[in-house]
Amino acid sequence: MDRIRIVGGRPLNGTIPISGAKNATLPLMIASLLTEETLTLDNVPRLADVVLLQRILGNHGVDITTSGKRAGETADNGQTLHISAATIVDTTAPYDLVSRMRASFWVLAPLVARMGEARVSLPGGCAIGTRPVDLLIMAMERLGAKVEIDGGYVVAKAPRGLKGGEVVFPKVTVGGTHTAIMAAALADGTSVIENAAREPEIGDVAACLNKMGARISGAGTGRIVVEGVSKLHGARHAVLPDRIETGTYAMAVAMAGGDILLQNARPELLQAALDVLTISGVAVTPTNQGIRIARNGGHLDPVEVTTAPFPEFPTDLQAQLMALMTRARGTSHIVETVFENRFMHVQELARLGARIQLDGERATIEGVEQLKGAPVMATDLRASVSLVIAALAAEGETIVNRVYHLDRGFERLEHKLGRCGAAIERLSG
Ligand code: EPZ
Repeated sequence: MDRIRIVGGRPLNGTIPISGAKNATLPLMIASLLTEETLTLDNVPRLADVVLLQRILGNHGVDITTSGKRAGETADNGQTLHISAATIVDTTAPYDLVSRMRASFWVLAPLVARMGEARVSLPGGCAIGTRPVDLLIMAMERLGAKVEIDGGYVVAKAPRGLKGGEVVFPKVTVGGTHTAIMAAALADGTSVIENAAREPEIGDVAACLNKMGARISGAGTGRIVVEGVSKLHGARHAVLPDRIETGTYAMAVAMAGGDILLQNARPELLQAALDVLTISGVAVTPTNQGIRIARNGGHLDPVEVTTAPFPEFPTDLQAQLMALMTRARGTSHIVETVFENRFMHVQELARLGARIQLDGERATIEGVEQLKGAPVMATDLRASVSLVIAALAAEGETIVNRVYHLDRGFERLEHKLGRCGAAIERLSG
């Protein structure tokens, strides 16, 4: 298994291009199931999760081709996928595929909307929590599907099509909101989704669906109204920039020191996180090319942060912020309210000399003068990158193991950091 080797102590200067958002790309690819025409997606990141989803969609009979390089394009440009679900040959999503990437469970809604049935494996838990799908099933039932659990599979049927209805989520769920929108898009009648997730990726998928002929309003707010249509057509859509990658690299340069332009980043996608960095003493400057992040010599002030659904501080940046706060001048507190077990990175950060106390969902981070490099292990996607952030400022060498977690969500991470001055390399095998 590949490992990443980092020697800390080098500042970061230059430009980091921000890729298309993983958490928009995955539902956008899944939305292709809603039409027999071709959906073309631009600015698609080259990630392991995208490759895996291509395999999963292929299993349903979806053809996906990739455009070749165009004149003037570099490896920093995202790829273009042409996705065509002209014929869906299999409405089963098997356990061996779904268990490897939870978001593949989201094929449930478009398969039922298009084919009247679906048999999708329950995804199972993961490192950060049990990750139930009860609210996604509730949404399908509210929109007219008959759902039962059979042998670890969710079996959903709507032979006479889905019906518009009201879906009220008792808690904010991104996957639940994607599911309700995709089911409602082809339902007979109008649907109202209350307490919907407001994450920018929801808005990006809704914008693409509207280009395909859907009638969705209110995406990005807590109340979304969808007027069902009988068919959707093909469209072309560019994936919005990845706000989690943006926040991650912002925290990397805050940790290492230096001055970086996060190219194509959009501040409004992660304003809460940028505000926390400003409070901590980092210079955050939106420009017409992206966002400039700088910390030259000044110290980091501690912060008090609670994660919550958008527009609050995102849970997907919690581990990265915790790594940064290990070097603050004082004591910080981070409360994780979205997932029940998203502190797996704490033990690994402690191996680098961090001083972190856990009390249920609350972490207390006492800033230290210096971290020291050591071998550490990644446990999930965002925890793995928090170890990279800590290693950038740790004295000496850090080896991050199990970097396949990194490859799921961060495109060419060692290239992006290496060309800005980090001493970072991938050790194969
Ligand atoms: C999406 O996961 C993201 N994944 C996650 O990013 C992100 O952390 C999460 O939203 C929260 O923002 C993708 O977009 C592919 P939820 P999702 O449904 O939709 C509970 C990453 O690192 N819940 O919003 O699965 C759930 O247990 C990943 O890119 C139920 O109880 O998250 C959690 O506590 C990690 N029942 C809370 O809701 C349900 O039926 C929020 O989960 C569904 C969810």
